[in-house]
Amino acid sequence: MLEEDFMNKILIDLGCGQAPAPGYIGLDIKRTSKAAVIGRLPHLPFKNESVHGFRARHVLEHFFSEEIFAILRAASSCLVQDGEFIIIVPHGTNPAAAQLDHKSYWSYNSPLTIVKDGLHDEWIGGKFKLECRKLYWMRQDYQGRFPWLVKWMNWMINKRPVVMERLSYYFGGIYEMEFKIRKIG
Ligand SMILES: C[S@@+](CC[C@H](N)C(=O)[O-])C[C@H]1O[C@@H](n2cnc3c(N)ncnc32)[C@H](O)[C@@H]1O
Repeated sequence: MLEEDFMNKILIDLGCGQAPAPGYIGLDIKRTSKAAVIGRLPHLPFKNESVHGFRARHVLEHFFSEEIFAILRAASSCLVQDGEFIIIVPHGTNPAAAQLDHKSYWSYNSPLTIVKDGLHDEWIGGKFKLECRKLYWMRQDYQGRFPWLVKWMNWMINKRPVVMERLSYYFGGIYEMEFKIRKIG
């Protein structure tokens, strides 16, 4: 997002922990976090149609699917029309996805469960469209050796995402996925 995009916009980083994203107001359950707002998801303490964008990085995997749908329903009420929700989750093939405090596992097609009617009993009712999704072999802010290899792997994985995530056990799993949904209803 460009710097001018942040101006006059209310952007909320859900489960921000120690590092709310630049331009975002952090919300977290922990008082020891760097959040400006202390709150417990799925409840969102914001007025209807008052928020321009939500973001949740490595947060939704800590919830069961029913709770995720409750968060999405609450977010859709708080978002302005066309408001966005950026979601970053560990990919299900990332060994860290199996941490015991993780309750949901995500793959490339998981976001379809949110936006497509008939795919899931708990579908939230045409409130969002899926705008983009991308897999990352390493974490997005990877600073280590062989950056060209990571860039190439990201390109490969996203060229054939569903095939590559099936093969990913041969190349160490996929670290994370980012996708963006936009309010339409
Ligand atoms: C793995 S951390 C991610 C922190 C940060 N988003 C990041 O990318 O580094 C998950 C965060 O979600 C917060 N969290 C967990 N359950 C929550 C809830 N019910 N309501 C609000 N925040 C919650 C935790 O306190 C923690 O800060």
